[in-house]
Amino acid sequence: MTINIALLGFGTVGSGLPELLLENQQKLEMILEKKIVISKVLLRNQEAIEQARANGFDYPFVLSMNEILQDDSISIVVELMGRLEPARTYISQALSAGKNVVTANKDLLAIHGTELRALAKENHVALYYEAAVAGGIPILRTLANSYASDKITRLLGVVNGTSNFMMSKMVEEAWSYDEALQVAQELGYAESDPTNDVDGIDAGYKLAILSEFAFGMSLSASEVQHSGIREIDKSDVEIAQQLGYVIKLVGEIVEVESGIFAEVSPTFIPKTHPLSSVSGVMNAVFIESLGIGESMFYGPGAGQKPTITSVLADIIRVVKRMNDGTIGKSFNEYSRKTKLAKPEN
Ligand code: HSE
Repeated sequence: MTINIALLGFGTVGSGLPELLLENQQKLEMILEKKIVISKVLLRNQEAIEQARANGFDYPFVLSMNEILQDDSISIVVELMGRLEPARTYISQALSAGKNVVTANKDLLAIHGTELRALAKENHVALYYEAAVAGGIPILRTLANSYASDKITRLLGVVNGTSNFMMSKMVEEAWSYDEALQVAQELGYAESDPTNDVDGIDAGYKLAILSEFAFGMSLSASEVQHSGIREIDKSDVEIAQQLGYVIKLVGEIVEVESGIFAEVSPTFIPKTHPLSSVSGVMNAVFIESLGIGESMFYGPGAGQKPTITSVLADIIRVVKRMNDGTIGKSFNEYSRKTKLAKPEN
């Protein structure tokens, strides 16, 4: 049997899925007893279709979302277009049509997460977005599952690879801010407009998503305070060094009396703290909790392979839940059986 999925967008991340599926084919068929098949790929125009074909990809490419929405054989929509629109509309339509959605779109989830999660719940379908935060680090499902029995009191994250690369070079190689930015742009880490990365906006989006998983409280992106690294110069870095610290752009979520408070800011980290060794484009999330104590999760925050690996892990989770009958078309039957099995109070 097959599980048909549709891809929205086929850029750097999405075009890595065929190879990853092939690499894991045997294992996946064994675990899932189903084969995952990319059955439609939505692209923005004919030129993009021709480009994808020229790159050796031969899928049923489509230009209209309706072709995916009306295809009942497609149970999972994987959104990898990025940006808010049309991603928000397409994801809403897919959820409303009873399709499960996997996405890596952090901006969208940080800004419209509450509305999209409600839509998924209403339609008994899954909405997973592990790759939206810290790319290859399985942090969201770790928080949701492994910390279910714990109480997190503080979360610190180096969750923007571009600014961390820049700060690392300023600390380790004594580069100026401008030199670091130029190299980050040349290496393709920072966009030509680097605002979101260097001003803490991107990290703020990730904190908004993390707050839901770590503290069970939704923060909208606009509720996360942020300041960036633009104003940091060599003398700040040198002073920090002399005092035994490194400066990093750190996102912090802490419990306060009224709930939680989240902020992204350049922070003095003692050289003895595990976050101080997170160098280059790497990401890390450091957690303080009552049960486990202190722990840190470290790994690549971006890049084609780590990101698409995280996306495929979400797809696999959806298929497992479909197999269990806890989402999708068989949900009503499952829910009826569970109710029958459990006498009402
Ligand atoms: N611009 C982001 C970063 C990409 O530098 O971390 C991954 O979200």
